[in-house]
Amino acid sequence: METLVKDKSQKQQSSSIDVLLQEGRKFPPSPEFKKQANVQDVSVYAKADQDPETFWAEWAARLEWMKPWKKVLDWNPPHAKWFVGGKINASVNCVDRHVHAGEGHVNRRNKAAIVWEGEPGDSRTLTYWDLYREVNCFANALKQLDVRKGDRVAIYLPMTPEAIIACLACARIGAVHSVVFGGFSAEALRDRIHDAQAKLVITADYGWRRGKQILLKNAVDDAIKDCPSVKHVVIVKRDGSSATTCHVKEGRDHWWHRLMQDAELVCEPAEMDAEDMLYILYTSGTTGKPKGIVHTTGGYLTGVYATTQWVFDLKEEDVFWCTADIGWVTGHSYVVYGPLASGATVFIYEGAPDWPEKDRFWKLIEKYGVTIFYTAPTAIRAFMKWGDEWPARANLSTLRLLGSVGEPINPEAWVWYQHHIGKGKCPVVDTWWQTETGSIMITPLPGITTTKPGSATKAFPGISAEVLDEMGHRIDVGGGYVAITKPWPAMLRTIYGDDERYVTQYWSKWKNNVYFPGDGVKRDEEGDFWFLGRVDDVMNVAGHRIGTMEVESALVDHHAVAEAAVVSRRHDVKGEAIVAFVTLREHAKKSSHLVQDLRDHVVKKIGALARPDEILFSADLPKTRSGKIMRRLLRDIAEGKALGDMTTLADPTVIEHLKQKYEEIEGS
Ligand code: WTA
Repeated sequence: METLVKDKSQKQQSSSIDVLLQEGRKFPPSPEFKKQANVQDVSVYAKADQDPETFWAEWAARLEWMKPWKKVLDWNPPHAKWFVGGKINASVNCVDRHVHAGEGHVNRRNKAAIVWEGEPGDSRTLTYWDLYREVNCFANALKQLDVRKGDRVAIYLPMTPEAIIACLACARIGAVHSVVFGGFSAEALRDRIHDAQAKLVITADYGWRRGKQILLKNAVDDAIKDCPSVKHVVIVKRDGSSATTCHVKEGRDHWWHRLMQDAELVCEPAEMDAEDMLYILYTSGTTGKPKGIVHTTGGYLTGVYATTQWVFDLKEEDVFWCTADIGWVTGHSYVVYGPLASGATVFIYEGAPDWPEKDRFWKLIEKYGVTIFYTAPTAIRAFMKWGDEWPARANLSTLRLLGSVGEPINPEAWVWYQHHIGKGKCPVVDTWWQTETGSIMITPLPGITTTKPGSATKAFPGISAEVLDEMGHRIDVGGGYVAITKPWPAMLRTIYGDDERYVTQYWSKWKNNVYFPGDGVKRDEEGDFWFLGRVDDVMNVAGHRIGTMEVESALVDHHAVAEAAVVSRRHDVKGEAIVAFVTLREHAKKSSHLVQDLRDHVVKKIGALARPDEILFSADLPKTRSGKIMRRLLRDIAEGKALGDMTTLADPTVIEHLKQKYEEIEGS
């Protein structure tokens, strides 16, 4: 394992560094932007660095607390408690305080909180008062269904306002939400429901994607056959009609709109400890089993609130569009909690960017006057490929800031984004962070940072990041592993039900007070960070994290498969694409039909996001003498590179043969 990790990081780093070393373009903030920016003075870094606890406490104090904390940080590595003794409710901070008159807050009762457009073009706007009413009513509905503080609730919804309302209603009564991306399959949903022991599932009859109905409730029905913990299911009716669109099991299943008709308007918010769980979010790691990342309330809200204000330079009149689905952490932190805690107008869209045409996003920006746009490099690369004419036709003049997240952005995509979408006048913030970090960690501050295409630049004030080598020695200039050397408020607190994995996965590479994110990075002479991708067996396909082992487990689950090894190779739009090498059982016959069947099987086990681009059959897989599959060599094959060191192979002819076969297929 250790050698594999090293091999991959070294290989990736040397090739990526070559590209990045040639990148010398710099973009200082314009004087006009700087003049109006929320942060104009670089002294914020030094001040936060001298006393990070005070820095974070000042941000926390801008939230609404039910009881003040007694101590800012209790650090017992690798376990942290932030704002110890403080009592707070996340829904109060995202909704109530904006509708209260006076009290030192801007009254946003009639301001748009959520502006939504569905894929077919239907739309809705909820003011903060509307959101307050919906969240309260739905919180009461959950109580009626016997959901109590600490219970887990799974959310499997399309991007509609209900997704946000559901999260906030859980937070209001102290239930822990576990949102599962609607693109995950029934089996993947089942595993997540089961791991969290969710008591209730919130879903919709269907959602729209590229003109097709995605039948979410059907998937829930399949998933919960094996989940005795689930007592109730709530179904959002996507089109509001009275037509029966899915199976409704009497006593277990309830229509959202019916529950809301009967629910009372006011639901007293639960007094939550700062360290009470707010949510669990599953993400892929290096084993076949996804990890339930645990986030708590006070510190998490502080982190997402601070970063929303400073990284996105948020102003009262902004229309903020983060294109992430609610099923990912970016949706949690920068669709729901960060912007709503800030009282922002959040725009959300249900469907695909190329539906019905490839200019849908640009039309939406024009129609709703979006001012801040935050998306992923994979989307930017797709826009580039589709052609400059699509954004050129729309009026994008309302935009004033652009963001990128989820994977390394190649300099060409960055420059295209800045030029064709930002028209050269919007700062671009490339923000590095993870499900585990909760909030943005390494990022420009748009009013003061000179940005460089491909670099996430510097640690956010109050965050301590460094580059370390294998042994934990600090590298001032050069490549290594990124490390976070001090606790931060939005950090994960544990892995749900597996604290041991939390300790070994994140806090055991070096000292137990240094966090290991698993990313390779290079630091330049000016101290800026350039991210190079994962150094472990986690892939990043179209901005989605997928473990190689997860896909391997899905493949060997198929009756025809004896063994599978999964690697990724570079892809010009998705960043990485999945390639699987498969050894069949004796009875199985190779065929194009079987390839399709295996692909479908992976989709069934995980979801379409994990569908392998290529599947190659092989009589044998390259192994070391001790029987370990050498993925490094398979990666060389998939990338079309010369094979690396083969001295530890048990039988070198296996790999030579595979390479030849792969090249024949590629060439055909
Ligand atoms: C990658 C998404 C380079 C990284 C918020 C990290 C990035 C993983 C960037 C986390 C970026 C995210 N530049 N790489 N700006 N942002 N990553 O948990 O490898 O879905 O470890 O969180 O995405 O993915 P996750």
